[in-house]
Amino acid sequence: MTRRPIIAGNWKMNLTVTEGLALARGVRDRCARFRGVDVVVGPAAMALHPIIERLADSPIGVAAQNCHWADKGAFTGELSPVQLAEVGCTHVIIGHSERRTLFGETDENVGKKARSLHDHGLIPIVCIGETLAEREAGTTLAVVTRQLDAAIALLDGDELSRTVLAYEPVWAIGTGKTATPEQAQDVHAAIRARLAEKAGAEATEAVRIQYGGSVKPTNIRALMAQPDIDGALVGGASLDSDSFARIVSFEEDVDR
Ligand code: 13P
Repeated sequence: MTRRPIIAGNWKMNLTVTEGLALARGVRDRCARFRGVDVVVGPAAMALHPIIERLADSPIGVAAQNCHWADKGAFTGELSPVQLAEVGCTHVIIGHSERRTLFGETDENVGKKARSLHDHGLIPIVCIGETLAEREAGTTLAVVTRQLDAAIALLDGDELSRTVLAYEPVWAIGTGKTATPEQAQDVHAAIRARLAEKAGAEATEAVRIQYGGSVKPTNIRALMAQPDIDGALVGGASLDSDSFARIVSFEEDVDR
């Protein structure tokens, strides 16, 4: 089965609304023509609505960077899947390592968020990945498997096949140190093997697994050439529409 690539930009807490709108316009102008790839941008929460309006006439998806699992309630400062669906978000990034390490995100909560997102027609982009200490201790696969199992525990096979996974080794995020394509492929293959134990062959084959961690125009092609790498979750290089477009156009842009 050929899986349709999905390239997403995680803008993190980087841009004002004005800057985000300008970047969204640049992404639309440069990326909307690449019809063979799902393109998603992930602005800060207050920029979601205006950016969704700006991108309304394009195939580009818009992701929130986090959510709560409840529909509504006394959760000061949180955003619910209901609220995100109403403004037109298509995806929500959950379990990002920055949320896990800086804001106490747990494996169990990631599972509840994935469940709730599917209840409201939103696609989770579930981030999993080991720290440098975990890699050096030889526990990469144990960590990633534990995170994966919890994230998908409440999903059926159909929901799982629509879920996007993002393998982001924490030591590669924002460091300029990309995992080698082979290192990434090893973990992606292990993730897919674990999916095969947990879900049917159909879902296992369908799930798209992005790689994230210092993805750039210069390394995207080698990463995408790996059989189990189906896209990228891009941080720093997604903040410039030109470099993001060069990543999105990895199949065409041979001159880099
Ligand atoms: P960088 O691409 O800046 O390393 O960030 C990766 C990331 O965390 C995407 O979610």
